[in-house]
Amino acid sequence: MCPPEYFTVEYSINPWMDPDTPVDTELAMSQWQQLRDIYLRLGHTVDVVPAQPGLPDMVFAANSGTVIAGKVLGARFRTDERAPEAEHFRRWFSTNGYRDLVMPSSVNEAEGDFAWTGSLLLAGSGFRTDPGAHPEAQEVLGVPVVSLKLVDPRYYHLDTALFVLNKGEHPRVAYYPEAFSAGSQQVLRRLFPDAVIADAADAECLGLNGVSDGRNVVLPREATGLARSLEKRGYEPVLTDVSELRKSGGGPKCCTMELHAE
Ligand code: ARG
Repeated sequence: MCPPEYFTVEYSINPWMDPDTPVDTELAMSQWQQLRDIYLRLGHTVDVVPAQPGLPDMVFAANSGTVIAGKVLGARFRTDERAPEAEHFRRWFSTNGYRDLVMPSSVNEAEGDFAWTGSLLLAGSGFRTDPGAHPEAQEVLGVPVVSLKLVDPRYYHLDTALFVLNKGEHPRVAYYPEAFSAGSQQVLRRLFPDAVIADAADAECLGLNGVSDGRNVVLPREATGLARSLEKRGYEPVLTDVSELRKSGGGPKCCTMELHAE
């Protein structure tokens, strides 16, 4: 995670961002601290990457890299505003013991568009990550990649429309079908017949930007419908307020990069 020390909305690179809407950086910081404290309370370890002045979106650490079993594929951002973040995150990986690190040649917004199920790497494109990043990820990380096409600009990253509830050989996901092309919806139905299907209200509060450890599922506090569906399937929703971060199009998952050990 990376603290929102310099968080603002001063440019607009997705439909959630309106530079005319005031942002309360202190409130964003306290919401971020609450999110970090939830992870700590649930028994997870949180590493913190130092924030950098002039990079207001660096709080969205999910975009920093994709880590699977010790291998790292770094990031390459679509827009000039975020491009310098990639080098700061690369430095963090290399000084924290991640030797097997490759920087991508295609535009690749990391876990914004890549979701690891434990057996497949689901890979989004349509708005940010270049489709060419998908075979590149397969080659570098050595895992099978499934390409999915996003079609609604509000759901510009895969992690705004889908997240993994359980990893493994028989993973389970939650997703909002309407964010995907017709072909990708068919693929998702085939791969995940028992998925939790979200509705428009769940998606509109960025409820699909969830983080699951297989039991506890951290969600924006407005995602009450999705939380009820998850409870029925035996999960424990943990709701938290991310209202300031949502002004930039972010939620719990955007603030969280997962260091997948396997
Ligand atoms: N303002 C940021 C952007 O548009 C938000 C990124 C959110 N991150 C994510 N993983 N969806 O790039």
